[in-house]
Amino acid sequence: MMKVRIERIVDEALDIRSFRLVRADGQPFDAYEPGAHVDVTGPTGVTRQYSLCSPPEDRAAYLVAVKKEAASRGGSAALHEQVEEGMELEMGAPRNLFRLAAEAREHVMFAAGIGVTPLLSMAYKLNARGEPYVLHYFARSPEHAAFVELLSGPVFAGKVEFHYGVEPADLEAELAACLARAPAAAHVYTCGPAPFMNKVVEVARHSRGEDAIHLEHFQADPAANAAPAGSFEVELASSGVVLQVPADASLVDVLQAHGCDIDTECREGICGTCIVEVLEGEPEHRDNCLSSKEKASNRQICACVSRARSARLVLDL
Ligand code: FES
Repeated sequence: MMKVRIERIVDEALDIRSFRLVRADGQPFDAYEPGAHVDVTGPTGVTRQYSLCSPPEDRAAYLVAVKKEAASRGGSAALHEQVEEGMELEMGAPRNLFRLAAEAREHVMFAAGIGVTPLLSMAYKLNARGEPYVLHYFARSPEHAAFVELLSGPVFAGKVEFHYGVEPADLEAELAACLARAPAAAHVYTCGPAPFMNKVVEVARHSRGEDAIHLEHFQADPAANAAPAGSFEVELASSGVVLQVPADASLVDVLQAHGCDIDTECREGICGTCIVEVLEGEPEHRDNCLSSKEKASNRQICACVSRARSARLVLDL
């Protein structure tokens, strides 16, 4: 974690504020990979993950945007109500689980609400690369959409289409019409509330394969908070030690209690900090950060929330 200073706060939409952060020591940041997020610890000591949405090559400052959540447990509400310009916060280094596909040369992006943030950083990158893309931005109204002025301005001219007030019953047809206009080879990216992303994925699957659909969740999978199904064993491949994970403990708690060096941040299966390689056995995935392809391969597990379908997992630890 490093200390950062809030240089500027801007109200970007109803309940959405952006925070321009500079390093407290005056040094430049590293350039970051579009789609990356950072951990930010606010004045209440609560740490949350926020996508970076400044131009990825701009090392002078990072920009994050925060939606004040109605059910905030001290993260977003504190950043809206308890901080002001000039204050310092703690911030982690950028991490990325939501990348532009290396093999893609055309892109179509679907954002809803605050989900526009990682896609905005991707749009900056695609502008710089000169690759064709369209960003479809869904919001209840212009007042609910962040960065409208920027996205309507010359930097993104002809690249952004706004979709305001689309009713849930009409969403599928609206998405299908957007995808029908997109090149068949274009990869699809989406970020927003889970029902929105689920619909994007469902519609996109009609015209392209799983490998061409990319998404990022901001919320935990409901399965993350489900009751553990039972106990299982984990074997640490380097030592052959076998540990029991009881029904009332998480895998990461058991591993950390044994002295394994595993970091955690969100503990909700969102940030990807605690991912461990699996050598044998079948995980029961309860996270929202591994892709469906990664989950199907059973080669990784999110140790804070996921468990095991097989009696034992062998981990690369
Ligand atoms: S700690 Fe964030 S996914 Fe496990």
